[in-house]
Amino acid sequence: PDKPVSRPETLNHNELTVLPYFGDVSSNITSLSLVHNRISELSMLQLQPYVALESLDLTSNLITELKVGSFPSMQLKHLNLSNNKISVLEPGCFENISSSLLVLRLNRNRLALLPSKVFKLPQLQFLEMKRNRIKVVESLTFKGMDSLKSLKMQRNGITKLMDGAFFGLNSIEELELEHNNLTEVNKGWLYGLRMLRVLRVSHNAVGIIRPDSWEFCQKLEELDLSHNHLTRLEETAFIGLSLLESLNLGENSISHLGEGLFSSLASLRTLDFRNNEISWAIEDSIGLFDGMKKLNTLILQQNKIKSITKKAFDGLEELEHLDLSKNDIMSIDPEAMSHMKLKAFVLNTSSLLCDCHMSWLGSWMKENRFLQSVSAVCAHPPPLLGHNVLSISPEQFVCNDFPKPRLTTHPETAVALRGINVTLSCVASSSSDTPMTTAWRKDGEVLYDAEVQNYARYQDGELIYTTVLHLLNVNFTDEGRYQCVISNHFGSNYSNRARLTVNGDLMFFRGKAFVDKKYEQINVLTL
Ligand SMILES: *[C@@H]1O[C@H](CO)[C@@H](O)[C@H](O)[C@H]1NC(C)=O
Ligand SMILES: *[C@@H]1O[C@H](CO)[C@@H](O)[C@H](O)[C@H]1NC(C)=O
Ligand SMILES: *[C@@H]1O[C@H](CO)[C@@H](O)[C@H](O)[C@H]1NC(C)=O
Ligand SMILES: *[C@@H]1O[C@H](CO)[C@@H](O)[C@H](O)[C@H]1NC(C)=O
Ligand SMILES: *[C@@H]1O[C@H](CO)[C@@H](O)[C@H](O)[C@H]1NC(C)=O
Ligand SMILES: *[C@@H]1O[C@H](CO)[C@@H](O)[C@H](O)[C@H]1NC(C)=O
Ligand SMILES: *[C@@H]1O[C@H](CO)[C@@H](O)[C@H](O)[C@H]1NC(C)=O
Repeated sequence: PDKPVSRPETLNHNELTVLPYFGDVSSNITSLSLVHNRISELSMLQLQPYVALESLDLTSNLITELKVGSFPSMQLKHLNLSNNKISVLEPGCFENISSSLLVLRLNRNRLALLPSKVFKLPQLQFLEMKRNRIKVVESLTFKGMDSLKSLKMQRNGITKLMDGAFFGLNSIEELELEHNNLTEVNKGWLYGLRMLRVLRVSHNAVGIIRPDSWEFCQKLEELDLSHNHLTRLEETAFIGLSLLESLNLGENSISHLGEGLFSSLASLRTLDFRNNEISWAIEDSIGLFDGMKKLNTLILQQNKIKSITKKAFDGLEELEHLDLSKNDIMSIDPEAMSHMKLKAFVLNTSSLLCDCHMSWLGSWMKENRFLQSVSAVCAHPPPLLGHNVLSISPEQFVCNDFPKPRLTTHPETAVALRGINVTLSCVASSSSDTPMTTAWRKDGEVLYDAEVQNYARYQDGELIYTTVLHLLNVNFTDEGRYQCVISNHFGSNYSNRARLTVNGDLMFFRGKAFVDKKYEQINVLTL
């Protein structure tokens, strides 16, 4: 032909075993697609005629390795080698296309090792290696990829990212590592990712987020850690993420939340916390969301939340979407909802305690047009069992009893000398005779093997329940803030937090107690 041809050449779904040769025309071809053939080798000789080639698609062929000398000097920009059988990338194999290559796809191959220096591709912007067999990524593997914007390595079974694994990816904005076997987030493997905006690590085995993890990633906007093995989030977990807008922590087993954990997330707009165990943080009103001024969407599905207390959502001035479904919620304090301008509210409970404190719900649902998204059915008192709140008239919501535990005595702050025994106690009452259970917490952590005594008695038709925590031979490690939690079928009540301070030495000498001079004052106070 007289005019240069630049239309893409497509020879997909054939039985080709080598690159075809089109004679003189080859030098005008810019795009060649040979998907689903039987090509087993890339050779310089066969590629040489394609001097103008910019895009080569060899998806679904039988190539097993890329050797040095696979490519002549050429200006290839897009190379797709997905779904081959490549297990070897020889260092230097991309050298002749390194100054032009923009996109490289190596999904569904057999790569297990990524040799250092193989990825010296300074122009490359997109690299995909999903569904390979890479278990470990060594330090500096990607050094020499200054332009890379996006790296995808899902479904490899990666167990370890060495310190500096991604060092050198100075432009990377998006890193996708879903469906691997990573066990922790730390600043070692995040080292140098200064431009990162999106990090996806869902469906891994992450059990810990180390302090200072985000030191280098302060531009992060989206973080997905859902479907991992997280049980605790220490207060340092998100420090540095002041630009983060979306955080997904759903489908973990998170039960411990460090104090002020979310206060570093001032830009967060969406928080997904579905299927965890943070009911206590909502029920105890610990100011969990303080400082989250921009939060717009909060998903708290399936957290075993029983009651929404007055201050549960304090700090969330901008919240518009709230999802509380899949919780057997029994009570909601109207004040918890009053300061928000909710546009969407999802609730599905048939456990409501429909006493006088719940009479507001039906009309509030109507006013705010949540009739579609809310299903609110009573479980108590017995005459209202199974009734939808919308079908109950206001005068039917009455307070004849108080089945939820009411705390009448809280533990008291104490200063104690080292070596003595300390007791802390709580008393609660209820009109219901359903069994009560107790737990003691120290600095937010449940004390599983504490020495606790519980007493129950009836008085004037009420169940009075007392729980006593014995701290024997206290030492400095016992210092902290103690709290009791008394629960029954209708909900939990969290006591004040009593601070225990432990001081100095108490020495025993021939049966008599001698106290260090400097603690004389305290001795008088506490003994
Ligand atoms: C690069 O291509 C030239 C020919 O264009 C060839 O002589 C050389 O061996 C190739 N180098 C590599 C590292 O493949
Ligand atoms: C291979 O990758 C290119 C982009 O580099 C893309 O346009 C093409 O659709 C891919 N081929 C297949 C079969 O998905
Ligand atoms: C992850 O690692 C665990 C134990 O180290 C192993 O049993 C499991 O098969 C691995 N999963 C994947 C997807 O590699
Ligand atoms: C509410 O939950 C019940 C049972 O848990 C389920 O059958 C029902 O479909 C749910 N309704 C909505 C609106 O999600
Ligand atoms: C806990 O007990 C106190 C004191 O009786 C009571 O005012 C409060 O409403 C109870 N809290 C809950 C969540 O029931
Ligand atoms: C603390 O209690 C233990 C067990 O009841 C007891 O053996 C011990 O003497 C007590 N210590 C003091 C200092 O009272
Ligand atoms: C109390 O704590 C001190 C310092 O933390 C330690 O040296 C000592 O062994 C502890 N005593 C007991 C009885 O545990």
